[in-house]
Amino acid sequence: MIVKTYKTTGDSSTDILSGTGYNYFKTLAAGRNSVVITDHNLFSLYPDAFENQNYILINEGEEHKNMTTVEQIIEKLIEFKIDRKSLIVGFGGGLVCDITGFVANVYMRGTSFGFVATTLLAQIDAAIGGKNGVNFGKFKNYVGTIAQPEFVICDTSVFKTLDEEDFMSGLGEVIKYSLISEGNLFDYLKANLKYVLKRDTDVLNQVVRRCIEIKTEIVEQDPNDKGLRHILNFGHSIGHSIEIIDGLPHGIAVMKGILASMDLSVKSGYSEPELRTQIKEIAAMAGFNTEYSLDSRHFELLANDKKKNGEFINFVFLLNIGEPLVVKVKIKDIVEGLG
Ligand SMILES: NC(=O)c1ccc[n+]([C@@H]2O[C@H](COP(=O)([O-])OP(=O)(O)OC[C@H]3O[C@@H](n4cnc5c(N)ncnc54)[C@H](O)[C@@H]3O)[C@@H](O)[C@H]2O)c1
Repeated sequence: MIVKTYKTTGDSSTDILSGTGYNYFKTLAAGRNSVVITDHNLFSLYPDAFENQNYILINEGEEHKNMTTVEQIIEKLIEFKIDRKSLIVGFGGGLVCDITGFVANVYMRGTSFGFVATTLLAQIDAAIGGKNGVNFGKFKNYVGTIAQPEFVICDTSVFKTLDEEDFMSGLGEVIKYSLISEGNLFDYLKANLKYVLKRDTDVLNQVVRRCIEIKTEIVEQDPNDKGLRHILNFGHSIGHSIEIIDGLPHGIAVMKGILASMDLSVKSGYSEPELRTQIKEIAAMAGFNTEYSLDSRHFELLANDKKKNGEFINFVFLLNIGEPLVVKVKIKDIVEGLG
């Protein structure tokens, strides 16, 4: 079922399919020379997906999200005679989707691509919105493109095989969406957390669809990341430095970044302490460790954030649930507030 088609620049649009099995990409690829890019882990977990397909295997882990892997993929694309009329499918988590989107965009100056997103984080975030890319040395996602996939398939039954850490990483982003959006996602999550944590497919379908709607509405209004998209960064400026310094999965670090942002939000008079308490409670109920500790290493990274503008950064505060506020803040004020 197509849950959403979102239009971005020009004539390009993306169909997001949910409630469809992961093998549905084969129907969408029918009649075209196609190739599937995946990692070894998914290849052994879901062998049926790759039967009778051209496929390229890459290594798991951020350390392989780089130009060397891109070059290896391009060599294989040439072997498979992939051309501009072909389809390249990324079957995996955010890492596979990010690399696939990037390769598809630079190979022959642009080839059609689609995703079968297999992690919670990929379905609600990484596969949606058209940002693709790889790391360059220690610089995360420094080389990339913005281009939209033809389709994103979101089958929540594959979450059953996800590691606890990877599932929680997606859940951190889900909680973020529930805080920055109007509507009842926050209440729905609170009421259904037990089923979310049991990875109930029906409840997760609802959650994933709502998160996709929230992200696509924002992306449609700001496809090239010029303004409105900033609200998606709630918890990310600090979360990003926690992710790198403490080596935590993305969404788990973002959850800590959200809690730190709430501390700053309360200190700066943007939010009431009760709001912070509510957020801390849902994070703890979901099983997140709600403690965080920041030192000079985190602040140094924050000062080098690629989104900074001179000594300022666009920091997202939360006035209320559904009311994020982007404020240009001096990095030194964040350091003083949280140091
Ligand atoms: N482009 C964007 O807008 C955007 C947004 C957020 C994150 N990202 C990127 O996404 C990446 C993180 O993505 P992620 O959290 O999905 O992690 P990941 O892609 O690194 O996958 C984590 C692990 O989960 C395994 N896995 C994937 N699906 C599985 C399944 N169904 N069952 C069992 N194991 C499975 C993978 O093999 C891997 O070992 C980062 O590189 C980050 O930069 C991009």
